[in-house]
Amino acid sequence: MNEHLQKSLEYARKNEETFVENLAELIRIPSISTKNDNSAEMTRAANWVKDKLTAIGMKNAQVMPTDLHPVVYAESLDCPGQPTVLVYGHYDVQPDEPLGLWETPPFEPTRIGELMVGRGTSDMKGQVVATLSAIESITRTGKLPINLKFLFEGEEEIGSPSIEKWMKANKDLLIADFCLNPDAGMLGEDIPTLTKGLRGIAYYELWVHGPDHDLHSGMAGGAVHNPGQAMAELIAKMHNSDGSIALPGFYDDVFVMTEQDRKEFAALPHSDEDYKKLFGVSELWGEENFIVAERLGARPTLEVNGILSGFTGAGQKTVLPSWAMAKISCRLVPNQDPTKVTEQFRKFLSAHVPSTVHWELKQLSGAKASVIENDQPGLAQMAAALESVWGKKPLYPREGGSIPIVGYFQQILGLGSVLTGFGLPGDNLHAPNEHLHLPTFHKGIQALIHFFFNF
Ligand code: BES
Ligand code: MN
Repeated sequence: MNEHLQKSLEYARKNEETFVENLAELIRIPSISTKNDNSAEMTRAANWVKDKLTAIGMKNAQVMPTDLHPVVYAESLDCPGQPTVLVYGHYDVQPDEPLGLWETPPFEPTRIGELMVGRGTSDMKGQVVATLSAIESITRTGKLPINLKFLFEGEEEIGSPSIEKWMKANKDLLIADFCLNPDAGMLGEDIPTLTKGLRGIAYYELWVHGPDHDLHSGMAGGAVHNPGQAMAELIAKMHNSDGSIALPGFYDDVFVMTEQDRKEFAALPHSDEDYKKLFGVSELWGEENFIVAERLGARPTLEVNGILSGFTGAGQKTVLPSWAMAKISCRLVPNQDPTKVTEQFRKFLSAHVPSTVHWELKQLSGAKASVIENDQPGLAQMAAALESVWGKKPLYPREGGSIPIVGYFQQILGLGSVLTGFGLPGDNLHAPNEHLHLPTFHKGIQALIHFFFNF
């Protein structure tokens, strides 16, 4: 085995504790991208990443402003003739609510056995630190065998609203052969994974307005259509009884799976029983005629993320609220366009909202689905790297989550992505008690080191 590779792997093994401490430092910064007035923390996290890049020998590291949260750029371009990999990550995290359900404070990283618990540990500060740790292991023991550029954003968890404009203005900076994106996770602890498809997303706020102020429910109830009820009636109509979505034309552009696609989904390892356990439900739900892996990876959805209306505090208050609001998002599959889905949603609302209330639909984000080709540069090298560490070949699932920038890299820069990651399905992403399995984190570092030596 290449001597430098050997030394890098050893460095990583010796420094496992330091890498975990680095991760803890980053977790302590509450970089919630959707939170108002949080720009100081966002900048602090961006600077943490920038300083770490400089410390491990990357050049030209800088925090660059966008219309919202800054991006971090850096490079190391000392390997003429070798490919240039654009390493991607996001330093932002999801909100910590509901706070009462956390067993340890979300931004105080806590070691519990093999786990590190905290918001962003798995999605994706763990993967960011794993990547930086792999590069540190290489640069502290010799010279990088490949050219690197870095792009870390702070808006992934809100749909990357500023990234398209920023990318168009900084195209030349991002010229590379392909993107390495470790934000996609694994199917299981013993299942190295190279994700080959992600769903897109269209995220909305739907408002239903009724009376121009809150009313006494005894004095008005029965004579005024309650906006909370109207919202519930609307939401109930958004799905048909077979689990399909009732927006007009919603399925027109949905790609049709080939026999081969269906075989690949059927070959994935998880059974219905596994999914029930993972999700904590006694029964699964969804479109008939599609197995669970297909429902997640190849079928579009419409989800209620939250509903707000009237009085929800302790005790009782008899009120007929003046409005109701629901956060509703659609996961999209190849060939669906978020702009078209918005039109379909508006058509649905025009047809179904009764004249007793008024509606308003606000789109908060939109991104198309992405597909990774089988001959994507870097894929074979990552497959070999994962196999070196896990001792088995990776699986290539289409996954249900979304990473908007993957589509922008493709559409704006013509840049394909290698999607992998070291988070596990049971890590409680976006939920209380998010955690990272540290043995898998360290294996991931080893795999990334192998990867950079595979060119
Ligand atoms: N890392 C996830 C996406 C993911 C999860 C990919 C599991 C593959 C498997 C990413 O950080 C994420 O959660 N993205 C958001 C994007 C949205 C807010 C636009 C998502 O999917 O909800
Ligand atoms: Mn996420």
